[in-house]
This record gives sequence, C-alpha cells and structure tokens, in this order.
Amino acid sequence: MKKIVTVIGARPQFIKHAALQNELRKSFKEITVHTGQHYDENMSDIFFKEMGIKKPDYNLEVGSMSHAAQTGCMMERLEDVFLQTKPDMVIIYGDTNSTVAASLTASKMHIPVSHVEAGLRSFNMRMPEEINRIIADRLSDILFAPTKTSMKNLREENLKGILTGDVMLDAFLKYKSKADSIDIEDVILGLKEDSYAYMTLHRAENTLKGNLKKIINNISKIPMPVIFSVHPRTLKVIGELFQVKQNRIKNIHLIDPQGYFNNIALMSRSLLVITDSGGLQKEAYFAKKRIITVREETEWTETVDSGYNTLCPMAEEIHKKISFKRKPLYKNYYGDGDASIKISRRIKEYL
Ligand code: UD1
Ligand code: UDP
Repeated sequence: MKKIVTVIGARPQFIKHAALQNELRKSFKEITVHTGQHYDENMSDIFFKEMGIKKPDYNLEVGSMSHAAQTGCMMERLEDVFLQTKPDMVIIYGDTNSTVAASLTASKMHIPVSHVEAGLRSFNMRMPEEINRIIADRLSDILFAPTKTSMKNLREENLKGILTGDVMLDAFLKYKSKADSIDIEDVILGLKEDSYAYMTLHRAENTLKGNLKKIINNISKIPMPVIFSVHPRTLKVIGELFQVKQNRIKNIHLIDPQGYFNNIALMSRSLLVITDSGGLQKEAYFAKKRIITVREETEWTETVDSGYNTLCPMAEEIHKKISFKRKPLYKNYYGDGDASIKISRRIKEYL
C-alpha cells in the first residue's frame, strides 16, 4: 500500500482533513502529522474528538512563534518525520504556515506534494496567507482546485489545476444533520433563532490594536445582538483594549472558540454572519446566510457575486451594508460534496 503523510496544524485544516481522511484510508496507508501550530483544547483536540478524526501519529508541538521561527521549526521537525516515514506523497491544505513549511520540506526531499485548496488568491501580498499559497502552489505536484476561479488563477500563473469542488462542502454536508440536531441553548444566551449575528474575526490586519478597536466599535452599533466566537489571537488584543464585563462589550457577547458542531449550529440559526474567516464565509454561503466580510477583498469571490456576501472593510458603515432586500442567487460553485472522492481517486492514479 502506498504511504501518504498528511500535514495539518490549524483549525480549518482539521475540518478539511475530517472530510478527506476516510476516503484516503480506503486506498492508502495514511499517516497524520500535526505541527502543533494550534494547540488549545478548543482550537485543536475538540475537532479530533467530535469529528472522529484519528489521533495524529506525530505531534511536532511547534506552538506559537514569529512566522520565520515557526516555519523554520516546523521544517526541521517535518524533515525528521519524512525521513522516518518515507512517504510516497505529502498532502497539504490551504494557506497556513504549516502548509508552506510542509511544501518546502517535502519538495526539497523530492517527495511529491498534493495541495488541497489550490489556486486561491486575494492578490494582497500583505496577507501572510497569500505568500503561503503562492509558494505552496508553485512547489506542489498536484493542485486540487475547489472552484473555477481558482483554476483560472492557476492558469494565469502557468500552473495546471484539477477541479474537484471544495472539501469544506463535503464536511458541511457530512456533519450538517449532527449540527442541526444539537442543543445550543447554553451558548445562544437565551437569544431566539434568526435574531442575532454570529461573528468570528482573527485576520492579522484586523487584530492590529487600532483596527480591532474600530471594528468592534462599528459592530457595537448594529441593531441586533452579536455572538462573537473569539479566536485566542483576538482575545489577547481585546483584553488590552476593552473593559469586558460579564463577557460583553455592549451588544457583543464574547464566547470561547466552539467545536465544529456548535459553530455550525450557531451560524445556521443566526440572521447574519460577520466574519473575516475564509472557511466561515463559505459555510455561511452553503447555509444561504447573508454575510458581511470584514475585509477589502475575498478569495471566495463567488459568495460576493451571488449576492450573499458583502465586503465591509473595518466594518465601516456596517449598518448601511446590512440589507435583506435584494434577492441573492445560490449556485453550486463549490461542487457537489464529492471533492474528497475525486481527490483520492486522482492521487491513486498519480501514484
Ligand atoms: C492561522 C493561519 C490563518 C488561519 C488561522 C485559522 C498562518 C500564517 N495563519 O492564523 O491563515 O486562518 O490560523 O484559525 O498560518 N493562539 C493560541 N492558542 C492556539 C493557537 C493560537 O493562544 O491554540 C494564539 C497565539 O497567541 C498565537 C496567535 O494566536 O501567537 C496566532 O496564532 P497563529 O497560528 O500564528 O495564527 P492564526 O491567527 O491562528
Ligand atoms: N470554526 C469553528 N469554531 C469556531 C469558529 C470557527 O469550528 O468557533 C470553524 C469554521 O466553521 C470553519 C473553520 O473553523 O470550518 C474556519 O477556521 P478559521 O476561521 O479559524 O480559519 P480560516 O478558514 O479563515 O483559515
């Protein structure tokens, strides 16, 4: 049996891996490496437990550091694992430091690399993720592109993608009924369905002190309660900026990062989603929710073209952007929920 090493390390990668892992394990010996980029119980372990993901075979326990130190440390430790395990292929997801570290390490060791979620571009080189994506795509041997837009982006860089659809849609469809059936009374804080906004925020730019202050102030003026699942990066800055009383800043209720099921339940039962997350923008689109994206641009342009998603950098004038009047149009830009099957099949052909 051919041997595949999957490298994951950050929250969205656990979710993508949850969708693909079972497919891969039907045809390959799959070894999972967790870099340790995310390590808090509710940023990491909870996903493995809830979603039935096999415990990682290796945890590199890299933890939080500067970009260079973190990427370098991951590379050093990944090299050891690749030497020990001798994989026929390495699989990477998305655009984090774990992604770029694995692409650099594997390609220098002449191990073929498959990049899942290839071809995404924001065309904003100030985003660490944009740098990671460009390098990972350039170094990978198979580029699994989730959308036609990502295929086009790759073509424009003279790279060839394989259109598969999005593994996040696979995960969403696989776990939706579970999320629909769970009770989130204690998290929802007595609020009624369709009466609140669900929010997440963690991008580097948005968590700069001055920017976060403006964003929170702007959001505190919208005429509905907001349930805010706070990423640990954001929590640190909030602590320096605001006097949080009873987990609240005006209409904004702060809650800990949630497991996937609670999170999908909170999102699906909300009136509006406010986020800068790539993953949550799409999931909200899958659930046909109106989305305000607190960014100047998005890689997931289809969600904006459809009319569901509105860009609102710095949440400036957010109250004017919240509108339920225009009728959005849902199309299956993200495939049919069988991306994992397609990816696994193509890897089999390649190997
Ligand atoms: C990373 C990814 C980003 C992705 C996000 C998903 C990079 C460059 N960025 O951003 O693309 O959207 O993950 O959530 O790889 N921290 C904790 N506990 C944890 C994890 C993080 O306290 O379990 C805190 C630390 O202070 C750390 C900070 O959050 O310094 C940022 O974590 P890091 O992994 O560097 O970046 P993210 O913002 O999470
Ligand atoms: N998510 C979660 N719990 C939360 C917030 C987000 O499970 O409290 C999920 C979300 O549904 C999506 C993924 O985490 O599947 C997105 O991760 P994140 O926003 O951290 O990163 P991004 O997608 O922006 O890279």
